[in-house]
Amino acid sequence: MTVNMIDLARQEAAMGDALRAAIAQVLDHKGFINGPEVRALEAALALRLGPGWQAIGCANGTDALHLMLRAAGIGPGDGVALPALTFVATAEAVRLTGAVPVFVDTDAASGTLCPDSLVQALEAAAGGALPRLRAVLPVDLFALPADHERIGVLAQDHGLVHLVDAAHSYGGMSADGPCGTQGLASATSFYPSKALGCYGDGGAVFTADTALATRIRGVANHGALPGEGEHSLIGTNSRLDTLQAAVLLTKLTHFDTEIAARRRIAARYLTELADCCALPPVAPGATPVWSYFTIRHERRDELAAHLAARDIRSVAYYRQPIHRQPAYSGDACVPGGLPGTESFARTLLCLPMHPYLHDHEVDAVIAAVRAFVC
Ligand SMILES: Cc1ncc(COP(=O)(O)O)c(C=O)c1O
Repeated sequence: MTVNMIDLARQEAAMGDALRAAIAQVLDHKGFINGPEVRALEAALALRLGPGWQAIGCANGTDALHLMLRAAGIGPGDGVALPALTFVATAEAVRLTGAVPVFVDTDAASGTLCPDSLVQALEAAAGGALPRLRAVLPVDLFALPADHERIGVLAQDHGLVHLVDAAHSYGGMSADGPCGTQGLASATSFYPSKALGCYGDGGAVFTADTALATRIRGVANHGALPGEGEHSLIGTNSRLDTLQAAVLLTKLTHFDTEIAARRRIAARYLTELADCCALPPVAPGATPVWSYFTIRHERRDELAAHLAARDIRSVAYYRQPIHRQPAYSGDACVPGGLPGTESFARTLLCLPMHPYLHDHEVDAVIAAVRAFVC
């Protein structure tokens, strides 16, 4: 028996014929671009965020970040503060706008952007040691909401646009509301392994700012603002496929049940591993979607090998943070470097986490981790 990180076959089995029926419906009506499922999905995604929120579907999560930054007016020469402990797409999207990534450190316990390090970056930028900051782009890493309250206050005080990479957190709750509703706008990914994933690429941007939503739609559709026949912006083609929207609409009907299953598994990990490794610190009032469950251990690679020997998969995502990647190694970092990021990257390990894990598989993961570390 192999305990996998995710299991799309079990998910498909749980959904019966509904996925195939949804795909067949698109084949029947043939509205492959901007079909009715796209608008229905956007409405359903936005509904989960609350009144006034809009969702704009797009081609993938990287585009969602890029569209959000562009539509928010971030462009050449602007400094964007972001963590280095994230998937490369967060920094890639900044670069694609012509803006300049400024890497700030990671909170040692949560792995999310450290507000104290952002203060340092702001001071260094004010003194001319870093590029002038126009925006901050925290990541709700491994489903844990970043400290948006403090980041939001700092953004307001210093005139930064507060945007969020919510690719790991859509579906979860932060103390102040659904994940994805912090900041001016947020971006998510529907990559197949995400908590809400499609059967290919897909993404969405969320905002409650109507003018921003209109610009995002325009940029995603060749620069044509909704309702206009002409191209008033330089845009791109980043529409969400109708087929992917149909898959996501079907998966959304199971999403709450899946989130509840993820939370049950996370509760077991949190309780039964509490005495033997560093666990994700859940902020008061937050209920993460648990797209990932990440522990930390000094002998991470040995632990991963120990698990692999027992047919238990694990992944050390972002073992090489972005400032260590060749394409970004020349980018600006907060003075003093990124010790929290380095330590997190050296020790983190994602354990199997998906809603279709059987109890005996969770037992096996817990027993194997405990056998190694306790
Ligand atoms: C934190 C984060 N941001 C952005 C992305 C980019 O999403 P996509 O792969 O859909 O372009 C990912 C995808 O893995 C991610 O994990």
